[in-house]
Amino acid sequence: MEFTLTQEHDLIRESARKFAETHILPTIRERDAKHEPDPDFLKKMAAAGLTGVALPAKYDGQDTDYISLGIVCEELERADTSARVVMSVHSGLHCLTLLQWGTPEQKARFLPPLARGEKIGAFGLTEPNAGSDAVHIRTRAERVGNEYILNGEKTWISLSDFADQFLVIAVTNPNADSPARGMSAFIVERDRPGFSSRPIKGKLGVRAGNTGQIFFENVRVPEENRIGEEGEGFKIAMSALDHGRYTVAAGAVGIIQACLDACIPYANERTVGGEPIGKKQLVQQMIANMVAGVDIGRLLYYKVGWMKNVGMRHTREVSLAKWINCNNAFQAAHDAIEIHGAYGYCDEFPVERYFRNSRGAIIYEGTREIHTLVQAEYALGYRQDRPLRCTLPTWPFGEDA
Ligand code: CAA
Repeated sequence: MEFTLTQEHDLIRESARKFAETHILPTIRERDAKHEPDPDFLKKMAAAGLTGVALPAKYDGQDTDYISLGIVCEELERADTSARVVMSVHSGLHCLTLLQWGTPEQKARFLPPLARGEKIGAFGLTEPNAGSDAVHIRTRAERVGNEYILNGEKTWISLSDFADQFLVIAVTNPNADSPARGMSAFIVERDRPGFSSRPIKGKLGVRAGNTGQIFFENVRVPEENRIGEEGEGFKIAMSALDHGRYTVAAGAVGIIQACLDACIPYANERTVGGEPIGKKQLVQQMIANMVAGVDIGRLLYYKVGWMKNVGMRHTREVSLAKWINCNNAFQAAHDAIEIHGAYGYCDEFPVERYFRNSRGAIIYEGTREIHTLVQAEYALGYRQDRPLRCTLPTWPFGEDA
């Protein structure tokens, strides 16, 4: 067993941290207050090579491993959740799913512009009446000749108004023997007639990020845009979530680290009764819990990144990492406010933003309750993973990736 990161991992962490310090931290307080995404953020990410992390060089990617993707997510979310969400959606949910399920022709066609950041990808599963109950989505894709016609709507879609293309899950066979086997996955480009989007306003957190609805009104997509076979859509959606949840789990560690970054100097400087509050044991307990949250969180997500590298199925492990790390991040942000007292309750210090941002991750990409049930079902033997037709390429990437 090997626990050390490579020199390449250290370099990636350093450059992601510099990127966050240069492009996120200087403006985040203002943009968060104004609910304003940075319109140039995707271009900046592309220029820094971040859009191609964990993608093979043959598709113009950075050829870095899957652990590197987690490290980048951790560093971006240490600055702000909205930045990590871009990585989760573009790299995790969209690009890695294409890398896993795309045909060689589809990978050669779709991945290079995504890796170079000329195109940004997003994911469309959730609908107004189907969130946790993803198996009951209603968006319909009807086959007519060698095209599909899509009708329906998706909601809570990150990058709804910025992404160039969406990996959309739709029902192709309403009479399948189970709803999960009646779905298919499609790449739907924004510029197809009948596609539209609308942002969701008034979010509690991730206010510098874009989230919204997407609509399909007789949107025609060619057969070549169908990812996987007909009927494999639910499996593709669940594999996408295996990748997305990994990036969320890694990002949550960044929030806990950010809480420590804010609380340690504050606890050393703020005095009560003539001594720093850091000397108080109840404050020390909260700091110690944050330290544990960072270490536990890294062990959980590094392990999942390693399982991706060596090609092991990791649906249970990633659900566990996402569940535990997001719970710990929310607790850390809560305690960070406690340590800051009344100052923590206003935006003079960043901890109130961490608190609002960390709440969302307990809902998206599988609620706390879904992950609790999934863990219990594995333990009780009610849930087992079967081999999949397509698996993520192992790292180092070979010619067959
Ligand atoms: N990879 C591949 N296939 C998988 C899989 C995985 N990780 N998990 C399950 N499957 C397959 C199963 O093998 C099964 O296949 P068969 O039909 O061949 O047997 C099929 O999918 C159905 O699986 P289940 O029986 O496990 O399905 P279920 O109805 O019990 O649902 C669930 C399971 C865990 C509750 C699932 O519905 C779920 O995870 N729900 C939460 C959805 C979610 O996280 N939504 C977030 C949306 S994305 C987002 O929020 C971010 C954004 O920006 C858009």
